[in-house]
Amino acid sequence: MGKIKKIGVLTSGGDAPGMNAAIRAVTRTAIYNGLEVIGIRHGYLGMINANFKPLQAHSVSDTIQRGGTILKTARCEEFRKPEGRKKAYENLRAAEIDGVVVIGGDGSFKGANIFNEEYDIPFVGVPGTIDNDIFGTDYTIGYDTALNTVVQCVDKIRDTASALNRMFFVEVMGAESGHIALYSGIATGAEAIIMPEIKGNARDIRKMLETGNKRKKSSNIIIVAEGDEAGGALAIAERLKPELQDYEIRVSILGHLQRGGSPSALDRVNASRLGNAAVEALLDGQQSVMVGLQNNEIVLVPFRKAVKQHKGLNQHLVDIIDVLNI
Ligand code: F6P
Repeated sequence: MGKIKKIGVLTSGGDAPGMNAAIRAVTRTAIYNGLEVIGIRHGYLGMINANFKPLQAHSVSDTIQRGGTILKTARCEEFRKPEGRKKAYENLRAAEIDGVVVIGGDGSFKGANIFNEEYDIPFVGVPGTIDNDIFGTDYTIGYDTALNTVVQCVDKIRDTASALNRMFFVEVMGAESGHIALYSGIATGAEAIIMPEIKGNARDIRKMLETGNKRKKSSNIIIVAEGDEAGGALAIAERLKPELQDYEIRVSILGHLQRGGSPSALDRVNASRLGNAAVEALLDGQQSVMVGLQNNEIVLVPFRKAVKQHKGLNQHLVDIIDVLNI
């Protein structure tokens, strides 16, 4: 590949607050460095359909504070197939796009990794998902905002739970991972947190609550990660009802409201740094890598590592759940 003159940028998979801040940073860094920028709409689908739109510095004005993604997004089945990727490559070539920034999560990077094994247009990733489940970066764009949204909701649930001496099972997103559950559980003083990474903890609720029960807590909040092996909050609450007869139980599933809203300051700043670093990486001749943040420094992580390795939970936080709940 020769010198990069024109880059594409897309958002893919589930949207996350802060994606617009990342698009803005990519666009402006590229233009600052004399490159042309093409927005690819609807993720990989837009590559396959040549749904391209040139972006100028002003195209991303007034977007840093907006949730969702101005480029739209999609989960694209066709890009999983060789014919879909071939079409995408031909369209990129025809538009003279010689590098692409993919803002997305795990599935998006898997696609990018395969594409870069087959074709010579370099892809660089920016981690964008509320789930924070990508190995190689301490934070993904959208996680902090989603967490703050969950915390606000759970605080409100706590008010009504205390007023009526109730127990709430609150289900949060996170796909197969418990990062949102763990952080929001700690931040709201939840009495128990059920997460996929900790096997069997849905069965131990009674034990987990013993300390609180002794103190006659006026409310109990159990945070349930949607991906737990025991099922969602409804299923778990239903199963535990017989052994929790002394509690009045309610269930609340927070759902997609966790994905919306104006990005937090941290997500905006992280998105600005990562978007900038992604363009710098392309200019440095990198490909098949994700830009990440480790200990507040920018790092480059090969896609194959980012998608293969599981990002574990913060063990210190896991250890203090029970300590802080006496
Ligand atoms: O990956 C982001 C996420 O919000 C997950 O937390 C959740 O499991 C999934 O996307 C929901 O996907 P959809 O919007 O397709 O229902």
